[in-house]
Amino acid sequence: MLVNPVKLFKKAQKGGYAIGAFNTSNVEITKAIIEKAEELKSPVIIETSEGEMESAGANIVAAEVKELARGSKIPIVLHLDHGKSFEAVREAVRAGYTSVHIDGSDLTFNENVELTKAVREYAHYNDVAVEGEIGHISGKSAHHKDERLVIEKKNLTSPKKAEEFVVKTKVDILAISIGNIHGIYAEDPKLDFKRLLEIRELVRKPFSLHGGSGIPKNQVMRAIEMGIVKVNVNTELRMAFKEGIMHEFDLHPDEVVPYKYLPAGAEAVSRVVEQKIRLFGSVDKA
Ligand code: G3H
Ligand code: ZN
Repeated sequence: MLVNPVKLFKKAQKGGYAIGAFNTSNVEITKAIIEKAEELKSPVIIETSEGEMESAGANIVAAEVKELARGSKIPIVLHLDHGKSFEAVREAVRAGYTSVHIDGSDLTFNENVELTKAVREYAHYNDVAVEGEIGHISGKSAHHKDERLVIEKKNLTSPKKAEEFVVKTKVDILAISIGNIHGIYAEDPKLDFKRLLEIRELVRKPFSLHGGSGIPKNQVMRAIEMGIVKVNVNTELRMAFKEGIMHEFDLHPDEVVPYKYLPAGAEAVSRVVEQKIRLFGSVDKA
């Protein structure tokens, strides 16, 4: 069934596990994620960034997910990831998304508060959950190979600002910047657990961890123990989809039928989703 995730976050917080939020941009990836979550009896979040939503079409993504969720026994959330404007949120809500992330992290603090408050009022009126962001999560969801990314200190989440932001906006979940970055770079990220502890002491809300690709397993597990209930994963799925299809073309270079070569990409995605769901501890939590 398609659900608003607020209750799922509370349950995850109590149970000490996190729910995977997996990005999709086509029906093969969406199906691979949902089928694996069903097999593992795990709740799951299907998410699209603004770019992914535009490319696939909000109404089309929503129709696919609603159809797959109909009759499914697991809770499925359809989430807008890094929505940058009220208009993007409205498009997602009208299409039937059950959760939205309003990312005002490029704005000033006050502008971010105002935009997030407006989104929260609109979204809650429509029974849609809201994720806010304080601090800024750097990087792009791609494989950057030899590149190194230095996180500027001003982009890390300030515990006091996070507290003020949550009091003023009343978001359901907060995305924090504690050394996590989008994409895979030459060096593994090092999460700042001291900062997470300080944030947790001031903010009584569930937290989301963006940039879930490439974070070493032990750090992900520790972050979940400390209150992360949603982990976003995109780059590893994108890479798996591409590599799966490339491998298929190595084996069958003359294949031209999409439904014959696309399953190899979906199977590779499915393997990554399984590893992540097991790592996040959400098996049998549906
Ligand atoms: O919002 C999406 C995620 O934060 C994805 O990050 O590409 O590093 O997995 P990732
Ligand atoms: Zn993100």
